[in-house]
Amino acid sequence: MSGIIVVGSQWGDEGKGKIVDFFAEQADAVVRYQGGNNAGHTIWHGDTKFELSALPSGIITPGQLAILGNGVVINPEALLKEIAEVEAQGISIENLRISNRAHVIMPYHIELDRAAEQATSNRIGTTKKGIGPAYTDKISRVGIRIADLIDPEVFGQLLKEYLPFKNQQLTKLYGKEPLDYDEIYQKYVDMGQQLAPYVTDTAYLLGKMLRADKRVVFEGAQGVMLDVDHGTYPYVTSSNPTAGGVMNGAGVGPKQIQDVVGVIKAYTSRVGAGPFPTELHDEIADHIREIGHEYGVVTKRPRRIGWLDAVALRHAVQVSGLTKLAINSLDVLSGLDEVKIATSYSHKGERVDHFPASDTWFEGLDVNYETLPGWQEDITGVEHFEDLPKNAQNYLTRIAEILDVDLLSFAVGPTPEQTHLLTPVWQ
Ligand code: IMP
Repeated sequence: MSGIIVVGSQWGDEGKGKIVDFFAEQADAVVRYQGGNNAGHTIWHGDTKFELSALPSGIITPGQLAILGNGVVINPEALLKEIAEVEAQGISIENLRISNRAHVIMPYHIELDRAAEQATSNRIGTTKKGIGPAYTDKISRVGIRIADLIDPEVFGQLLKEYLPFKNQQLTKLYGKEPLDYDEIYQKYVDMGQQLAPYVTDTAYLLGKMLRADKRVVFEGAQGVMLDVDHGTYPYVTSSNPTAGGVMNGAGVGPKQIQDVVGVIKAYTSRVGAGPFPTELHDEIADHIREIGHEYGVVTKRPRRIGWLDAVALRHAVQVSGLTKLAINSLDVLSGLDEVKIATSYSHKGERVDHFPASDTWFEGLDVNYETLPGWQEDITGVEHFEDLPKNAQNYLTRIAEILDVDLLSFAVGPTPEQTHLLTPVWQ
């Protein structure tokens, strides 16, 4: 049992990269198992800031494998661009491994994602990176995999077969320009050849590592509430960030997992459309957005802000089987007179304490809060739990109590030095 899963347990952007990095320091591999370059991970190493979206955050730590599993969708152009960027920052990518079974985000996926977002009245607010259309093709069995991309003959055959259908969709459904076969073929074959040295059967590789008791961290992108099965459907991403996604997206078994760490912020944020019961539209939201730099890493969109939602978090604990909790951005709440935790909802006079499935259910919803006293002190330099203001301690303790999950860490700022562990990461 030497696998650790780190999952975002709200709507993404919880600061997972930093927590992954703690485990990664003593790990043999870090694995992304779902999503694509829709995710944005900000990681600090000393004074250097890395903004990753396609690469596993473990790429920054020397000496371990950084793996893109079969459940990931890969935009070769975005991946190569990011590789060039981290290389320019002095990072070697010789330990990168890419699954031959991962699917490729093709240019028509991006065009279709954009066109669908423009056309429909029921917009999801996607990142327009082609994620949904790439997963749609995977499930429809008309996707192109990395193994196909690196074989020019196979790639050419598949592109010849699929492109005319995609062009029909683009031109006839959406009134867009068709894409050119030769242009895509040349560009993608060339990029495939650049990525080929890193391509392998990553499930086989991971199986060997886990049997040899090597330490492996599985890094979720997005968050539980964006999970296509367990999130606020249809306002979700097209993959499974929940812990279960690791089994399919990396090709490992549940018994190989030691702990599932849920990463949350001390409040809630979300980008894109969809239900957000504890959302705030007042000066407290503005305060949190500014102090917490709550703007998307990938899209730069201002994030929606709200109080911590323990109803949504209990759902996250359940569907991912969380065993530990990492609470980030505690410092962002400093200066508020009081802080609130949503403990249940009320709907048509009925009290509800688990997260509803239906999108329409959220209309007319009331949220029941537990209000705790805030703290005024600047806590960004605090290193030990006992040195936090009493009210900040109480807030953390209360969250762990409500969720019935042990606290692994708390963070008082964005850097690793400002993240403090209560128990060792690997036990
Ligand atoms: P898609 O993943 O681009 O299809 O977007 C679907 C939904 O997931 C939208 O609401 C996006 O804003 C959201 N989303 C995707 N990736 C992230 C992320 O890394 N953080 C937060 N939200 C995300």
